[in-house]
Amino acid sequence: MHRKKFYTAISTIAFGWAAVAAPALATAAGDGERLGSIEKRAWGKTQDNRTVCVYALANANGMSARITDYGGIVVSLTAPDRNGKYEDVVLGYGTLAEYVKDSPYFGSVVGRFGNRIARGKFSLDGQEYTLAVNNGPNHLHGGLKGFDKVIWESEALIRDGAVGVRLHYLSPDGEEGYPGNLDVTVHYWLTDANELRIEYSATTDKATPVNPTHHSYFNLAGAGNGDILGHELMLAADRFTPVDEGLIPTGELRPVAGTPFDFARPTAIGARVGDDDLQLKYGRGYDHNFVLSRWDGKLRLAATVYEPKSGRLMEVLTTEPGVQFYCGNFLDGSNIGKGGKPYEHRYGFCLETQHFPDSPNRPEFPSCTLRPGEQYHHTTVYRFSIK
Ligand code: GLA
Repeated sequence: MHRKKFYTAISTIAFGWAAVAAPALATAAGDGERLGSIEKRAWGKTQDNRTVCVYALANANGMSARITDYGGIVVSLTAPDRNGKYEDVVLGYGTLAEYVKDSPYFGSVVGRFGNRIARGKFSLDGQEYTLAVNNGPNHLHGGLKGFDKVIWESEALIRDGAVGVRLHYLSPDGEEGYPGNLDVTVHYWLTDANELRIEYSATTDKATPVNPTHHSYFNLAGAGNGDILGHELMLAADRFTPVDEGLIPTGELRPVAGTPFDFARPTAIGARVGDDDLQLKYGRGYDHNFVLSRWDGKLRLAATVYEPKSGRLMEVLTTEPGVQFYCGNFLDGSNIGKGGKPYEHRYGFCLETQHFPDSPNRPEFPSCTLRPGEQYHHTTVYRFSIK
């Protein structure tokens, strides 16, 4: 018999867990059934003295996540191994100050445009736009102050089978060079099916490119516990977008068959990453957009990643046409993560679901233009289980 579950939401107004205000929504399932919960507390302040909050979410199975309204960052996310042991599987820092100081987009919402736009320029409806340039000559991940560095309005969400956080941000006309006031909402859900589900939506008052993504670095053996080269990756992609030295797509959609980019069958990330291959040289490893074979805008399986020692399996589903597979090539031990663990070379990998890099300059790629009156939607699910 189906029994409806109820969830606890507790908000704290002052710093610290001790300062708990009244439960916003009370519990009740009785007979010892475990419930999902969500708690909000102040986490710190930015340099301009604005308060940043963090939400602690737990699902009915005991999986947990912490999400902050600064950059929409997933600070931690636990998943069970084959012995039922939960471990934090995303890279990140212990404090807000460390995120503000220097982060390679650990766990953040990226936008307006995830990935690169060549020379920070594009034309739309006959008008040329110039964006902030922050990656050599190119624009990367929304510019100097992208969605990963702003404070989002936030609120706790509860529904049957999931707890979540709603994030809202109004990106003003001209921000980082982009046209239009872009009204963006991101819902993060932690579901009782052990999923982190991310739903993006947006509207605009002028035509503008929109391509937000999520930038968690995963390590299914636990954050800080070694490199990810033994993780076995499957990508549901029969082509990828080769790039130039600056990681800008050449425009070609190249078949992966017979190359180190073929992950049709699960293959260890490290098996071919050191191959003598020009694309791997340009990326310093994998840092490429894969063209999902079955894209039709519906939520479909894009990738699976299996970590053989722990037995953890992560499936990635998305409505997007592409996914950037980045294997942590720029990590070099200089970022000291949670628990004082340094993140060395390739200690984490990202699967950034997206429209293809440099789409605003590539009319042959699926369009990422949002126009007034239209609704942008994108859903991505990271689902955890064991094998
Ligand atoms: C993306 C890019 C990489 C790198 C990381 C952040 O994955 O494609 O080249 O910039 O973000 O370090």
